[in-house]
Amino acid sequence: MKTILITGGAGFIGSNFTRYLFQHYPDYRLIVLDALTYAGNLDNFPVALKTHPNFTFWHGDVRDSALVLELTSQADAVVHFAAETHVARSIYDDRRFFETDVLGTQCVASAVLRCRDRIERFLHISSSEVYGTAATVPMTEQHPLNPMSPYAAAKAGADRLVYSYCTTYAVPAVILRPFNQYGPYQHLEKVIPRFITSAILNEPLTLHGRGEARRDWLHVEDTCRRIDLALHAPIERIQGQAINLGSGEARDIRSIARLILRMLHKPESLISFMDERPGQVQHHCSSQDRARELLGIEPGRPFEAGLEETIRWYRDHPDWWRKQLNMRRVPIKNGGSSVRYY
Ligand SMILES: NC(=O)c1ccc[n+]([C@@H]2O[C@H](COP(=O)([O-])OP(=O)(O)OC[C@H]3O[C@@H](n4cnc5c(N)ncnc54)[C@H](O)[C@@H]3O)[C@@H](O)[C@H]2O)c1
Repeated sequence: MKTILITGGAGFIGSNFTRYLFQHYPDYRLIVLDALTYAGNLDNFPVALKTHPNFTFWHGDVRDSALVLELTSQADAVVHFAAETHVARSIYDDRRFFETDVLGTQCVASAVLRCRDRIERFLHISSSEVYGTAATVPMTEQHPLNPMSPYAAAKAGADRLVYSYCTTYAVPAVILRPFNQYGPYQHLEKVIPRFITSAILNEPLTLHGRGEARRDWLHVEDTCRRIDLALHAPIERIQGQAINLGSGEARDIRSIARLILRMLHKPESLISFMDERPGQVQHHCSSQDRARELLGIEPGRPFEAGLEETIRWYRDHPDWWRKQLNMRRVPIKNGGSSVRYY
């Protein structure tokens, strides 16, 4: 029996991963630490999980070093998702991003170091945003780090902080860099749920710029399977490595908007355009070579199949997302006093 500490486990990927572990490893003890910001939601856990004796939820902050140390001292492995995660919000107000994403990661890394006699591994969930827009394709883990938004810069700081703990103290850390994620329980501020729910409500699907930004999409359940592989691979094989988690295929935002409208039998006239979002990454496409070699990953589900599943989930769960409708657009102040909603 193992104990896994999951920070940010009430958010989108964290809650999918917690449910995944509960299904696949029913005898593991799961401790979730989450501050329940606007992005965290206890409704992301089924009642059977919330009431299970192997599950503990701690409402707390990842920057609280005493609490993080106390929980880490009970764990065999830590999976660190907790972060402020929305690029557009980081343009409006970036301080919290650096406090949570960088200083919060420092708390976790430092607790792992102090508990290194017990901790088998520390999986740090970084992001493909650390790379900035692709200078070469496909993007390997050696691609330069050129973060283009305050969110990306905070994630890059955390990513290198964890690496420095590997090189300085030999902590058993692994840096996972997911590319763009989609699937159930994703907040409506993110593009795919925003498009799906807007289409369901016959409201405009607003594209930034011409919608030509191309991203690499992986369904969250396929990501969870890969994080599971990283949780159980021999640590000496992966310690200190950065590993991309993506599909290896790029798709532009406009074609995704069209696909969603087609799948929901809605007219393309619902597509509308506005200015490009500041800090936009124009092109991402991952190399999967290292993930194949070190983790033995298999291809994820085809994008169309994952999108259909996701659309079905949002169609079947309006009670989950209706309360977030007013958060689909985010105000950005870019320099002067005027505010744009993205
Ligand atoms: N969603 C994506 O496409 C994507 C892609 C690459 C990487 N990531 C990374 O994966 C991780 C999870 O992303 P997500 O999409 O699930 O994010 P999310 O915004 O849905 O969830 C973040 C969770 O962290 C919690 N949290 C925030 N501040 C906290 C704090 N100070 N203390 C404790 N908990 C706190 C929130 O309450 C929330 O439950 C993040 O580190 C993110 O940077 C996400």
